[in-house]
Amino acid sequence: MFSPRLIILLLALIASAKPLNLHSISRRNLVKLSPIALQIALPQSASAVSPINVDELSGQTRNLNAYKYELQRKKLPPPSLLLRPKINLDFAVLLMRASYQILDDFNLLPMNEFQRDFFLLRSTSYKSYTSKLSNTIITQGDLTDPYYFDYISYAQYATINRAILKPNLISIESQPVENSTTGEFIDVPISIRSDLRDDLSIIPKLFRLEVGENILKWFDDRYNNTTASIPKGNPESAVRQIINLFRIQGFLTSGDVKVEKNVLNVGVEGSGNNWSMKCLKSEKLNNDFIRMAIEAWGEREGNAKLNYVKLNTYKIS
Ligand SMILES: *[C@@H]1O[C@H](CO)[C@@H](O)[C@H](O)[C@H]1NC(C)=O
Ligand SMILES: *[C@@H]1O[C@H](CO)[C@@H](O)[C@H](O)[C@H]1NC(C)=O
Ligand SMILES: *[C@@H]1O[C@H](CO)[C@@H](O)[C@H](O)[C@H]1NC(C)=O
Ligand SMILES: *[C@@H]1O[C@H](CO)[C@@H](O)[C@H](O)[C@H]1NC(C)=O
Repeated sequence: MFSPRLIILLLALIASAKPLNLHSISRRNLVKLSPIALQIALPQSASAVSPINVDELSGQTRNLNAYKYELQRKKLPPPSLLLRPKINLDFAVLLMRASYQILDDFNLLPMNEFQRDFFLLRSTSYKSYTSKLSNTIITQGDLTDPYYFDYISYAQYATINRAILKPNLISIESQPVENSTTGEFIDVPISIRSDLRDDLSIIPKLFRLEVGENILKWFDDRYNNTTASIPKGNPESAVRQIINLFRIQGFLTSGDVKVEKNVLNVGVEGSGNNWSMKCLKSEKLNNDFIRMAIEAWGEREGNAKLNYVKLNTYKIS
């Protein structure tokens, strides 16, 4: 189903050893909640969410969580047959990698387990997804293809949601460790502990802000000191430019913002996550990258303005 070469390419892109240059939110109200990964040597093996098992995927579900996911898999809406542009590869990779690395930072499950579950989940629904694309050609493994990106992003966030549904703060992760004598890397089980112990309900919000901040940082690196930079101050102008920058990356065909009664109404068309958003509608965390970036902008500007930037209405105006 997935050619090994493409899988390796994809995994290499997402879980690349090269650090992403994560830009942590250091706002005063979030700093104390920041997930600082601590590596400690604890003997106990308290696994986080259990790995997806074959029964779960074949429909012979044995527990409630598995059952829920099986149902969800069957109820996936038909693919969005929208005319959409190609997504800028660097940008598509950023969205996937930021999501992966922030989950990694939270230390809620061993990432080798996440990789495995992600692989199983995306292989499971892929055939039913592509079979409904009728005459549309999907380029498997190509993140610039909106049909493929939409699918793979769904699978990633479905896996992330599965992980945050039953987070565990101590888990064992296989990590490569260098043998100082031979210079070889061997996988060694290491206990990881999450610092999110106080308030797990903050996870989705924190996750969204971190991904959003990473998107803004990516824009900063490319557009600061150009006429395309995100203007400071006026929320309407800033949000309009954020939408515009998403459009320039090929992530949507059109979008705009309108202020009505102090509410910013944001509307987008032909977005790269049109289908996955529908799939993830009832999840704790969806892949609404545009909203994440807008919220992170509000956070940058301070909470007073964040309240003004109400995003209750999300429609094409
Ligand atoms: C490193 O490699 C040497 C030679 O193979 C081996 O004897 C030693 O036990 C290894 N050390 C660790 C910590 O694995
Ligand atoms: C771009 O501008 C933002 C906001 O003014 C700033 O925080 C960031 O450091 C700047 N980045 C670069 C690369 O100049
Ligand atoms: C432009 O970039 C320089 C650093 O290269 C920075 O000091 C300056 O603040 C930037 N100006 C704006 C308007 O972002
Ligand atoms: C997907 O696109 C259709 C057609 O433009 C639109 O009606 C729908 O609201 C979009 N859904 C999302 C979640 O963006």
